[in-house]
Amino acid sequence: MPKKVRIAVFPVAGLGTRFLPATKAMPKEMLPVVDRPLIQYAVDEAKEAGIEHFVFITGRNKGVIEDHFDRQFELESTLKARGKLEALKSLQDDLPKPGQTSFTRQQEPLGLGHAVWCARDIVGNEPFALLLPDMLIKSDPGVLSQMIDAYQKTGNNVIAVEETDPAGISSYGVVGRGTGPDTGFEITKMVEKPRPEDAPSNLIISGRYILQPEIFGLIENQPKGAGGEIQITDAMQKLMEQQKFTGVKYNGRAFDCGSKIGFLTANIVFALDRKDISHAFMEELQIVASNENT
Ligand code: UTP
Repeated sequence: MPKKVRIAVFPVAGLGTRFLPATKAMPKEMLPVVDRPLIQYAVDEAKEAGIEHFVFITGRNKGVIEDHFDRQFELESTLKARGKLEALKSLQDDLPKPGQTSFTRQQEPLGLGHAVWCARDIVGNEPFALLLPDMLIKSDPGVLSQMIDAYQKTGNNVIAVEETDPAGISSYGVVGRGTGPDTGFEITKMVEKPRPEDAPSNLIISGRYILQPEIFGLIENQPKGAGGEIQITDAMQKLMEQQKFTGVKYNGRAFDCGSKIGFLTANIVFALDRKDISHAFMEELQIVASNENT
């Protein structure tokens, strides 16, 4: 039986330049989809998958993420006094338990690989999950749960992948697919941002990983890669020389909420899935689509 995946790492130290000016003073990971911040969706997904400790790699202007995962006594007592008990319960349910969170700073945004490396002392010698909160994935069960199933069968490193249109493949990390079903297949190759003719498949890496702790030593010795940043994919390529990687083509749809189109689409899809607002929202969308009053 492989070691349990207890810890999840959430890198939230990026600058979010694609979302300026919204992200000038506010972290991208606090942007709301309907009424929940992106980081809350990622934490919910990790909780559902049985994660027991949540590690946030923060940076300047990110203190509000720490506040979000703390109790707000004044707010709680006001909600109680006003009889808003459902809202109060929901706030309390969203919180990890005391002692289940750790925050550490990536002092300079040197890239995703470097952000992950900042978690090395907190994670120690254990496998861990890595979730990029700006990749919001709508799926049931959550993607990390689907990946934990694959991990428990193999003990390998696990990467979530999804199909993409070959025309847009050059923006992503792409994997080569070996034998095995969608729920867990052998990864034969990993290529960062290939030309369409060089892509080993149309399966792209989509922001969810289960990694063995040996990744930390590899990141430490790694030179800067694409965009002058220390890239996690470069370290994973090295790790592939020593350990196996399993791909999970999950059931669900990912929204890159670091991009405007992904974020706006996610808001529509998640709002239409909410019983309390979907009907009224659909009526508004129909008015917009028919160009009346807009
Ligand atoms: P992105 O690749 O989306 O980069 O990061 P970014 O800097 O946040 O945004 P843009 O491209 O400038 O608009 C993916 C995830 O990795 C984190 C981000 O916070 C995000 O959750 N990240 C990225 C770090 O924590 N540190 C880094 O140095 C880079």
